[in-house]
Amino acid sequence: MAVDELAVVVGAGGMGTAIARRLSQQYRVLLADVDEQRAVSAAVMLSEDGGSVSGVQCDVTSSASVARLADEVQSQGGFRVLAQVAGLSPTMGDFDRIIRVNLVGPSLVAEALLPHAKPGAAAIMISSLAAHLCTFPEAVLNVLRDSAASHDLPNRLRAVIGEDRANPNTAYQLSKFGLLMLCRRRAADWGARNCRIVSLSPGIIATPMGAREFQSNATKQRLFELSPAKREGTMNEIADVVEFLASERASFISGTDILVDGGLAGAISDIPFGGKEAV
Ligand SMILES: NC(=O)c1ccc[n+]([C@@H]2O[C@H](COP(=O)([O-])OP(=O)(O)OC[C@H]3O[C@@H](n4cnc5c(N)ncnc54)[C@H](O)[C@@H]3O)[C@@H](O)[C@H]2O)c1
Repeated sequence: MAVDELAVVVGAGGMGTAIARRLSQQYRVLLADVDEQRAVSAAVMLSEDGGSVSGVQCDVTSSASVARLADEVQSQGGFRVLAQVAGLSPTMGDFDRIIRVNLVGPSLVAEALLPHAKPGAAAIMISSLAAHLCTFPEAVLNVLRDSAASHDLPNRLRAVIGEDRANPNTAYQLSKFGLLMLCRRRAADWGARNCRIVSLSPGIIATPMGAREFQSNATKQRLFELSPAKREGTMNEIADVVEFLASERASFISGTDILVDGGLAGAISDIPFGGKEAV
């Protein structure tokens, strides 16, 4: 792969920067984050290490901001890889905010960037193990299916799950499950352009976000003890899978999810894509 192809990484936190670092070995990288300073300083650091990386501001929850990102991608000749990594954990926002950042935003990004995908391009949407530990009633699935890119999604979900269940943990599960559905549902449109869209669900990963959740969430601590790997995953292990999914070696993988969790989901649930109903 020539280094003149563009990879877009949205989210310049722990995992996003690790992914950008890996992709910068093969691509020019455009690194976007709502926090412009964070995106720019990560880009400077990766450039000092030999990559060709630029940082830009983008708030995935704003259609106008995402449109500006798409314009930038177009002006750079289109992209070969999109890694949508930006997200909030349950301790970082309320129900509405988590749904907006984790599902409405990524849906807007996928929609706005698809017209600028070069043939052979791949989009990798970072979901979560959480999406594999829950199921939802048909009424909820219908809303997730029809309205993932709608700014009104939080209200539509509240209407079907009930106000008493509209908490940050449920929002996280809904948003990450919604991403799996999004990739499945959008694979045909991406395929029509000879492109792929895949979700990647990390388990417990050693990032600042992972550490924060680990300290404050007793359930997560219990999950860690049950993990067959008996350890957290590393950001490099996630970057390895992103690099593979972005490559020609993954050319027959689209519209599905890759779970990278050290076997944890298997250890705690023997039903693929199913645990307890979350609402
Ligand atoms: N760390 C883990 O253990 C773990 C496990 C499963 C899934 N994940 C997922 O991986 C992704 C990255 O996690 P991380 O540990 O790197 O988190 P992080 O908090 O380090 O990084 C997230 C980044 O997203 C950015 N962001 C937040 N809101 C945004 C917005 N509106 N527009 C654009 N950018 C925005 C933040 O500024 C931050 O830089 C998240 O989607 C998270 O849900 C993480």
